[in-house]
Amino acid sequence: MRGLLFCNVRRVVVLALPQQQAAMLRRSREARWRKTRVSGFVAAEQQSAPASSPPSLKRRHEGDPEEFRSPPKRLDTGEGHSQKVATHYNALQECGLVERSRSRILHMRNFNNWMKSALIGEIVEKVKRERRDVTVLDLGCGKGGDLLKWRKGHISKLVCADIADISVDQCRQRYDDMRRRSHPNERIFSAEFVTADCSRELLSDKLKDPDLRFDICSCQFVYHYSFESHSQADMMLKNACERLRPGGFFIGTTPDAYELVRRLEESDANSFGNEVYRVTFLKKGDYPLFGCQYDFNLEGVVDVPEFLVYFPLFVEMAKKYNMRLVYKKTFHEFFEEKIKDEQNRALLQRMQGLEQYPADGRDRLASDSPGEYEHAERRARTSGVRLPLGTLSKSEWEATSIYLMFVFEKMS
Ligand SMILES: C[S@@+](CC[C@H](N)C(=O)[O-])C[C@H]1O[C@@H](n2cnc3c(N)ncnc32)[C@H](O)[C@@H]1O
Repeated sequence: MRGLLFCNVRRVVVLALPQQQAAMLRRSREARWRKTRVSGFVAAEQQSAPASSPPSLKRRHEGDPEEFRSPPKRLDTGEGHSQKVATHYNALQECGLVERSRSRILHMRNFNNWMKSALIGEIVEKVKRERRDVTVLDLGCGKGGDLLKWRKGHISKLVCADIADISVDQCRQRYDDMRRRSHPNERIFSAEFVTADCSRELLSDKLKDPDLRFDICSCQFVYHYSFESHSQADMMLKNACERLRPGGFFIGTTPDAYELVRRLEESDANSFGNEVYRVTFLKKGDYPLFGCQYDFNLEGVVDVPEFLVYFPLFVEMAKKYNMRLVYKKTFHEFFEEKIKDEQNRALLQRMQGLEQYPADGRDRLASDSPGEYEHAERRARTSGVRLPLGTLSKSEWEATSIYLMFVFEKMS
């Protein structure tokens, strides 16, 4: 485990665990992996066929990303992966506040949501320095978990696209409710909703105005589904970047392939995980550039297949659309940076993105398992540390620290 979070209301401490060791391990694995991959890149560029083998939440502040909701029963429809993804997300139930507040991973969900808020806030602010009216594409919008973030950013127009038609309907419904309940003086962005497999269909063919230009494309917890094949990953990228204005941004979150492979190779089996998540690969030691499938199991229920996104390849592919990588940061790096800001800290607290340790009299910790809060216990015993602390259980942190954030900019 490479780092655990502590946040005191006034002071934030990020305790880095054996970072140096992890960095060394990572470098050596990256080098090994890169060696086998660079040669595979050309071949993979040419093949377009899919590689088939391969504590009580009191208020709602932000949306709730679907990937951290309780998924439905295991799906085995025998359909292609895109269809499986749509069926899976369509079947996800909107769960109420009470049910959500009972979730073992409530704080991790809130934490991830806060991470997205911080990223979206940063980029909207950047664009607003240059432009008054901001147009956004939410690629893989789900049920509209980020609508409130766009509202907070005072954007002008939002296009929401997703493969799952029921999710798109629920997103539209959520938007309509938001508009209806808003103050008459508040100018809420206009919105358009599109159902499309964005890894196989051209989005601009489905837009009301095919010449519409975007300032931001946000792709949160989505892009990895398209890495099933080169043609799908390229189409998703095209949809994300083709209609961006020069100086516009393509932002998102996706699992960090290095981290996944590192954990897999450290494990004795084809899988790794803990009491909240499990990742299972089809095989070990062979990581094709596309179609490198794994199952991500959260809270004990199998999810739809996902695919490794080899980041250097992603960066290369983005150049075709005149995109330059601004940064790629692990969740840990991004958190460390964003938590320095007073407003972000206050937002994290309001969103209950960290769990209070020790729990106050009315609440229990998210887990009773031994070792889940050892890091917090140790920290709490350190002299001069003010209690309570804010943290995540060890298992939640291991699950969330799989992800990374990226920002690309469109060149002129
Ligand atoms: C983990 S959810 C994230 C939803 C939302 N972005 C959020 O952060 O709350 C992944 C979403 O990606 C969508 N998705 C997956 N593959 C897609 C594709 N090929 N085209 C469009 N949407 C896709 C799914 O339907 C699902 O809504």
